[in-house]
Amino acid sequence: MTDAPDQYGVVGHPVAHSWSPFIHGIFAKETGQPIVYRLYDVAPEEFRDRVQEFFANGGRGLNVTLPHKIAAVEIAHELTPRAARAGAVNTLAIQADGTLLGDNTDGAGLVRDLCDNFNVVITRRRILIVGAGGASRGVIAPLLALEPSQIVIANRTADRAQALANDFQDLGAVTGVGFRYISGGAFDVIINATSASLSGEVPDIPVGVIGPDTFCYDMAYGKSDTAFIQWAVDHGCTHALQGWGMLVEQAAESFRVWRGVRPPTGPVLAALKERAARL
Ligand code: ATR
Repeated sequence: MTDAPDQYGVVGHPVAHSWSPFIHGIFAKETGQPIVYRLYDVAPEEFRDRVQEFFANGGRGLNVTLPHKIAAVEIAHELTPRAARAGAVNTLAIQADGTLLGDNTDGAGLVRDLCDNFNVVITRRRILIVGAGGASRGVIAPLLALEPSQIVIANRTADRAQALANDFQDLGAVTGVGFRYISGGAFDVIINATSASLSGEVPDIPVGVIGPDTFCYDMAYGKSDTAFIQWAVDHGCTHALQGWGMLVEQAAESFRVWRGVRPPTGPVLAALKERAARL
């Protein structure tokens, strides 16, 4: 008799475009872990019931993506400190006592891609985060933990940037401003955490934020350069990167939470880029 593989998946709406089954499939092969990973397209009003049903039927873990990341906070019986800070859950894991742990691996994924894959230094550097929505909230604490000299959150709607910065005052030097009030010249690192790239738009930030050594990162990713990456390059940025690595690294971190094994990410990243190029 062979044991059935453990069940995992991603819940979203829509979710058909998700790369997660491809990524976790390669992780499973690389690590020899016996898992299956499926897509679950679940509307918001069915989210709670479907998640509970998944775990009641023996499921071991779920990734949670838009629009459910905040609803997943309510379903979890316990949150990791980083999920509590992010106010959002992208990873649910069943624990030995049958309760659900909610975690958030997005910030760890970004930091790993920046610092480990691309040797970007955050400590004592000036960081500009553009956007003040959920994507931005998820990465502020892990970046502050690296002790930058300053994080400026800039948002089209200034109030949201200020409110977000207020929530993280206890962790380090972080301020929130509207785009017109970004000051201090070029930043060392600029992270686009807006959803503007999804509609081919670029946040209207002053070009003076880019200097010859500025590293620009777009959390969004696509087959070709995102609008933000294109904009950064057009304005003299020589180190601009889209978020494929964050996608893979956050997935690897979820895999580690579930299986206790951290898969290598290099092979997946190469396969992903190759596959995206063929789309
Ligand atoms: P997410 O969870 O993906 O962050 P969100 O909470 O809807 O989604 O936030 C989207 C972010 O992208 C916000 O910071 C939004 O700016 P506003 O708060 O001013 O709406 C930002 N955004 C979206 N489209 C944008 C655009 N074209 N230019 C600038 N900012 C944009």
